[in-house]
Amino acid sequence: MAKERWASRMGLVLAMAGNAVGLGNFLRFPAQAARNGGGAFLIPYLVALLVVGLPLIWVEWGMGRYGGQQGHHSAPGIFQSMGKSRLWKYLGVLGLWSCLVIASYYLYVETWCFAYAAHSYMGGFEVEAPGDFFNRLTGSVTNEVFAVSPWGMGLFAGCILLNVFILSKGLAKGIEIVSKIGMPLLIAFAAVLAVRGMFIEYNPADTSVVKASPLEGLNFLWQPRLDSLADPSVWLAAAGQIFFTLSIGMGTIHCYASYLRDQDDVVLTGASAGWTNEFCEVILGGTILLPISVAYLGLNQVVDMTAGGSGFGLGFLTMPTLFNNWGGFAPFAGFLWFGLLFFAAITSSLAMGQPIMAFLQSEFRMSREKSALAFGLMLLVLAVPVAIFHDSTFNADFDFWAGSFALVVFALFETILFAWVFGMKRGWTEINKGAEMRVPSFFYFIIKYVTPVFLLVILVGYIFQPEGKVREFDPVTQREREIDRGYRPFIDALLSGETPPEWRWSGSGMIGRLLHRDLSEPGPKALPEEKKFYENVKMVRTFDRLILVGAFLFLVALVWLAWQRRARAEGDVYDQ
Ligand code: ALA
Repeated sequence: MAKERWASRMGLVLAMAGNAVGLGNFLRFPAQAARNGGGAFLIPYLVALLVVGLPLIWVEWGMGRYGGQQGHHSAPGIFQSMGKSRLWKYLGVLGLWSCLVIASYYLYVETWCFAYAAHSYMGGFEVEAPGDFFNRLTGSVTNEVFAVSPWGMGLFAGCILLNVFILSKGLAKGIEIVSKIGMPLLIAFAAVLAVRGMFIEYNPADTSVVKASPLEGLNFLWQPRLDSLADPSVWLAAAGQIFFTLSIGMGTIHCYASYLRDQDDVVLTGASAGWTNEFCEVILGGTILLPISVAYLGLNQVVDMTAGGSGFGLGFLTMPTLFNNWGGFAPFAGFLWFGLLFFAAITSSLAMGQPIMAFLQSEFRMSREKSALAFGLMLLVLAVPVAIFHDSTFNADFDFWAGSFALVVFALFETILFAWVFGMKRGWTEINKGAEMRVPSFFYFIIKYVTPVFLLVILVGYIFQPEGKVREFDPVTQREREIDRGYRPFIDALLSGETPPEWRWSGSGMIGRLLHRDLSEPGPKALPEEKKFYENVKMVRTFDRLILVGAFLFLVALVWLAWQRRARAEGDVYDQ
């Protein structure tokens, strides 16, 4: 079988940027920024970009290209080719597992983007509230854990098939073409919306419709606030965002980079893809959702609506209504918004499918078409429960374990593997091989010491995170509000010698998550159906975790089998 390659460098950069630019840039970033104090978020965010973002981009590109030369195109094989112990390939399984799990809910949201774009274009949101459309699309019913919408599921199946079809076309004729079309369109759509948003006219004498200047939203994000540097919860959120948005720790970058030639540059190309993502996130992503929603809703309401940090409510349930203020342009604006989300999503979901396919192709010698189909089938096993159970159960839990926690665990392993097992000297030579621009030498020190320590601290932070709710005056929104500061009140008490508040696990941390602390417990006045709903959600959570563990063990078994076969076929030329 001929080796697959990228057709052009431009195509590779766009595919890699497409891998990174996703829903995270346009929904998660503005919401995380709003939740964590706007400008207070940006400084830890930029530091995390410097100490984990950029270094890991180069590490993952370098590892991918190295593994590709040994005939491996997914994390288990790449890890194994760099590590001495046979265990490394099993740690690499995380790089398949995260892709599969994230793809299962990511593709569901991708389906919503498609449905919302079409509905907007047809003027649907001028007559139907976005929330009602959402309930029709997902079948969602209040206090019901089980929800089915046949046409919504049909669309979801269609979206999975579309991804499988594109993947089956291969790198150059599938992913690369979609990225070359999708990325420029996405940027163009985003630019139109960002500019239109800036022209929302604000008249302080009449705030009945426009409550604030869109510039207030921009100002909120861009006004730096140093106080956040002493706030561990903001650091955790910023690092989490860097991981998700750059698609670090997922195994997708390794896979794409494994199709490079031995002497192809990874330093400049990797950095270009990373900077494209940052442009799409901080500049474009920061100039749509926040300014437009702050203009029509006011800063306080936007801060309240993003308390969960996902941006889903604003993006899907509020934006279409806000666009209605734009008269005849409204349907088109909705089309642009959801269209850009769709393109952002599909270029990322393809990147999640490719490592699974590549694993089957290179380790089991399956054909491209068969492995694309196999990916579709594996995805289906996870996607069906995602689609039929209420969205706060599967989606949110999968997102926590695969989309946040596992990324940090995987990144920690890969940094140790690269800098300490493979060896930093060798690794450094490997990254800089064929480089058009050498990595600045201080990154040698960062990758070897700072990145692993930073990752370890973040991981411990994630595991034990407490809930540190405090009522305080917020200088940005100019009111007193309850803010979850995580570790901060405990550290403050320790430093001042005061009695610390009672310890409570946070639902944003691993232990709290296991204990379902992220679900709001029904209070004493809750209705019986609300109590029942809570219990049902807890039960479904147990089920979703069994699926997660099952999927992991299944992938471990596949890796074991692949290496068994490989040992038997010793002497074969092992290349795809
Ligand atoms: N990096 C992708 C995103 O931002 C997963 O959505």
